[in-house]
Amino acid sequence: MKRHVTPVAAATIAAFAAAMTLGAQAPSPQQAVDAAYAKYKTLQEGKNADYIPALAKVDPNLFGVALVTVDGKVFTAGDVRTEVSIQSISKVFTMAQVIQEQGLDAIEKRIGVDATGARFNSIIAVESVKVVQGTGAPEMNPLVNPGAISATSMVKGASSDEVWKKIIGFHNDSAGRQLTVLQDVYKSESDTNQRNQAIGALMLAYGYIKNNWQQAVDLYTRQCSIGVNAQDLANMAATLAAGGTNPVTKKKVLDTDKVPGVLAVMATAGLYDDSGKWLYHTGLPAKSGVGGGIIAVSPGKFGIAVVSPPLDDAGNSIRAQRAIADISNALGGNPYAGKKVGS
Ligand code: DON
Repeated sequence: MKRHVTPVAAATIAAFAAAMTLGAQAPSPQQAVDAAYAKYKTLQEGKNADYIPALAKVDPNLFGVALVTVDGKVFTAGDVRTEVSIQSISKVFTMAQVIQEQGLDAIEKRIGVDATGARFNSIIAVESVKVVQGTGAPEMNPLVNPGAISATSMVKGASSDEVWKKIIGFHNDSAGRQLTVLQDVYKSESDTNQRNQAIGALMLAYGYIKNNWQQAVDLYTRQCSIGVNAQDLANMAATLAAGGTNPVTKKKVLDTDKVPGVLAVMATAGLYDDSGKWLYHTGLPAKSGVGGGIIAVSPGKFGIAVVSPPLDDAGNSIRAQRAIADISNALGGNPYAGKKVGS
C-alpha cells in the first residue's frame, strides 16, 4: 500500500526534527514565525480557489504570518498588510455574535454543533445527517455553508442594514480596526453563488431560516467578502485565545464563558473534512477560508493567522496549515500537550 504523508503530518515531522536540531531550547515566537516563513515562502503547491472568479486573480505568492499573544505582543513575517477576502473565517465571528446575543443554546438547538464530515458546501450532507431533536431538521454546524447562512439569518435586526452593521461591527471589534468589503469579491461571488442560493432556499424549507432567505444569502456573501490581512486575522484569533477580549485594543467582544463553545465547533469542523487530521497534528481550534487565510487559537496563549491563497483539495491553504503547525508545535501551543509558550 502506498504511504501517504499529509501536508500537516510532514510539517509536524519537520517541526519535530527542527526542535531536535535546536536541542531543548525552545525558539522565541519571533524565531518560530521567521523560521516558518522562510521555510514555506518558496513552496509551490495547491492552487487558488476559482469557483469565485475574483479569487483566482489574487497573487498566489502573497504570504503573511502573524502571531498575537494574549497579552498583546505581536510577531509577524512577510506581507501582513495586503488584504484578502475573509471568506469562511467570517463564519466563526457571526456564530460568535449569535451566541453572544442569544446564548450558546441558540446555535446548538437551532443549527447543531456536530461535524458533517463533508465539504463546506455539501447539500448531500444536509439531506443525510441525523435530525436535531425537537425540530426534525438536519443537524449541522455553523461553519459549513448551510449552517453559516442559517446563523447569519439569526442575527437580529429590523432591516438588512441593521443586521449588517452588527455583523461588520463584531468583525471590526475582533480585528481591532474598521474593516471594509472587497467589492470586486462581493460582486464576483454574488454573480456566481447559485449553489448558496439553493442552500438558502433549502434552509428556509427546513425552517432554519424564518423568512427572507435571499437576504440571508446576500449578507452571508457580504460577510465572506470582508477584506482582512494576516495581522487582522491574528488579532481576531487572539481575541478568542484571550477569552473574548481583544488583547491589542483591550475591548471586550465576547463573554468569556461563551468562548469555549465557539472554539469547540472550530476544533471539530474548522477545516471541514480535514478537521480531524488537523486536530491530530496541532490540537488547535482553527478556521480556514477559501481566500487563503487560516486562523488558529491556542487558548490562553496566542492567536495565529497565515494568509496564502493556494489551497488543497479540501479548500484549506497549504502554506498556512504548514506554517501554523510548525510555529505552534515549536512554541508548545497544542492545548493537549499542556506546555508553556516561550517568551
Ligand atoms: O460560500 C462560499 O463558498 C464562500 N464564500 C466561503 C467558502 C469557504 O471559505 C470555505 N473555506 N474553506
